[in-house]
Amino acid sequence: MKGPVQIADKTWWVGVNDRTTDLFEALWPLNRGISYNSYMVADEKVAVIDGVKADFYPQYVENLKAILGPDRTVDYMIVNHVEPDHSGAVEVMVQAFPDITVVGNDKTLKFLTQFYGPLPNFLEVKDGDVLDLGDHKLTFALIPMVHWPETMVSYDTSTKALFSCDAFGSFGALDGGVFDDQLELDSYRDETYRYYANIVGKYSSFVMKALNKIRDMKLDIAIVCPSHGPVYRKDPDYIIDFYEKMARNETDRAVLVVYGSMYGNTARLAEAVAEGVHSGGITDVMVKNSATSDLSELVRDLWRCRGLILVGCSYNGGVFPKIKHFMDIVEGKKVSGRFVGICGSYTWSKGAAMKPMRAFAEQSCWTKVEPEVEVLSRPDRKDLEEAHKLGANMAEAVSKA
Ligand SMILES: Cc1cc2nc3c(=O)[nH]c(=O)nc-3n(C[C@H](O)[C@H](O)[C@H](O)COP(=O)(O)O)c2cc1C
Ligand SMILES: [Fe+2]
Ligand SMILES: [Fe+2]
Repeated sequence: MKGPVQIADKTWWVGVNDRTTDLFEALWPLNRGISYNSYMVADEKVAVIDGVKADFYPQYVENLKAILGPDRTVDYMIVNHVEPDHSGAVEVMVQAFPDITVVGNDKTLKFLTQFYGPLPNFLEVKDGDVLDLGDHKLTFALIPMVHWPETMVSYDTSTKALFSCDAFGSFGALDGGVFDDQLELDSYRDETYRYYANIVGKYSSFVMKALNKIRDMKLDIAIVCPSHGPVYRKDPDYIIDFYEKMARNETDRAVLVVYGSMYGNTARLAEAVAEGVHSGGITDVMVKNSATSDLSELVRDLWRCRGLILVGCSYNGGVFPKIKHFMDIVEGKKVSGRFVGICGSYTWSKGAAMKPMRAFAEQSCWTKVEPEVEVLSRPDRKDLEEAHKLGANMAEAVSKA
């Protein structure tokens, strides 16, 4: 975006698009970029809500000054979340607007001080406190662990705008517009899933608490203004319902097959498994090569799929490393309510690949689908029939659930 965009009465989007960072949090590829959405409410008092990553400060200040003109200053900077993709600009904001008061809760202050040292002016707010800007008044609601302990949201009673920070956010820069009605929302759906599954998903129980809290507050929400991705004014319920679906671990009638194979023999099991799933009436089946698929996409796909079948060859006494890595990441995400099946191969150490996959399937509190299929070096016709059977059983389990 080339500059500020008015989104409601006296309210502007003043964020920036980042199309240069390769990896978000140094981990997750940003093939479509990401936006850091910041907002300004310019009433009798001027507040900015959330900031941007420090590197983007020059464009950010240009945006702010475009609205402020030469005579006005920023009175408040509301920090809903201290992660540096939003708070990185706090230091320079304090230098640019020396009288600015930074607003947050007790944990916000603690974290900001840890990162940036003492702040000259800080206003501590508690759950339910209201900040009076004139016609516009901001109410604060704490939503801890979505996805840091200090996280909160700000709600403007006048415009009915909910400034939700990472909650309701998405990967993907804003391509030409900021609103849901200006963008191809369907094209952001995968990126919203990928953002949720990889950044927020581990804290789904806290997301549910936050959603229930917002509901209990009976807020009339006309615009959802997250800190990444589209702003929802046409259909705010679209993103609230979508987040609830993901937080509840609600899945589609779909199966993900992730395989690891160096010379293509074990990969044939993955093909047979997928055909088995298909034969059981499930057309939404995805076969992904763990070696060439981006991990964040595998985690995203798993969030949507009710069934997972792992297919891995043995490697140095264990399972293929990319399968191991995927299992480790998934275990840390607290994904629940899935069906899981396992297939593996070996050439000299029977059980080497199966053991870690079995441990994953049993530890993860998922429902295991039989049979386990383990083959010697290269699957024969009988092995492929077994793999097909595993796929068909998976289709049956997933369809009944
Ligand atoms: C680097 C390397 C390490 C391997 N380590 C083991 C192992 O520890 N135990 C085993 O039974 N097979 C091992 N294998 C054999 C593979 O598990 C597998 O049988 C072989 O790669 C053929 O399957 P693929 O075509 O799916 O790669 C290894 C193969 C390679 C290339
Ligand atoms: Fe964050
Ligand atoms: Fe963020």
